[in-house]
Amino acid sequence: MPELIKITSLTKTYKLGDEILNALDNVTLNIRAGEFVAITGPSGSGKSTLANIISGLDRPTKGSIIVDGSDLSKMKDRKLSDYRNKNLGYVFQSFNLQGNQTALENVMMPMYFSRVGHKDRHKRARECLESVGLGDRINHKPGQLSGGQRQRVAIARALALNPKIIIADEPTGNLDSVKGQEILSVLKDLNEQGITLIIITHDQTIAREASRIIKIHDGKVRLR
Ligand SMILES: Nc1ncnc2c1ncn2[C@@H]1O[C@H](COP(=O)(O)OP(=O)(O)O)[C@@H](O)[C@H]1O
Ligand SMILES: [Mg+2]
Repeated sequence: MPELIKITSLTKTYKLGDEILNALDNVTLNIRAGEFVAITGPSGSGKSTLANIISGLDRPTKGSIIVDGSDLSKMKDRKLSDYRNKNLGYVFQSFNLQGNQTALENVMMPMYFSRVGHKDRHKRARECLESVGLGDRINHKPGQLSGGQRQRVAIARALALNPKIIIADEPTGNLDSVKGQEILSVLKDLNEQGITLIIITHDQTIAREASRIIKIHDGKVRLR
């Protein structure tokens, strides 16, 4: 499989007053199309910073990140947001759903912003919810769903625009281990269908399921 994500000598620096903090420190790593990679490391080691840079939510201070041949560090904001819409699905620990909207409306949202027509949005959102096993919950609001079900709505939303890559930042962090395994199995199915999967996790039982574990410590990556 070809390299999909190429990160070279990437540093992300935060300045807090006089203090300079390298959240990522000269990171070089590649991820191939179709891989399932787990990123692990202690709290504060730079995992979310890395996820945010891969997903184009944040920019490197130094170094490059090339995804599918395009250099994200050189893209203007507008192009970067196109990149996100076309290539990426992001799943958060805290689900980040709109509480006053139904599951269906939550999944339709990214398609609305990408100007998909109402009928197609509706159809695609339903398909995505069915594919995560929530076909019978489409009109429920997040408050009427369990944690595991909420995370599945979030995964359905991440799928809405047919991403090449799914990045899940501690997707099981707010779930018990049984629900966590269910979420992992939904994500693994997507990976088997060809989506490149990057899971950030503290949980070694989840990391062990990945085809590769990338360990990060004080902003530095140790490959194995
Ligand atoms: N926006 C920010 N401003 C300043 N420091 C930040 C910011 N985001 C993250 N950091 C710092 O960068 C380091 C890495 O953070 P993060 O990537 O969130 O770690 P992890 O996800 O591994 O817990 C931490 O020391 C954190 O405090
Ligand atoms: Mg984090």
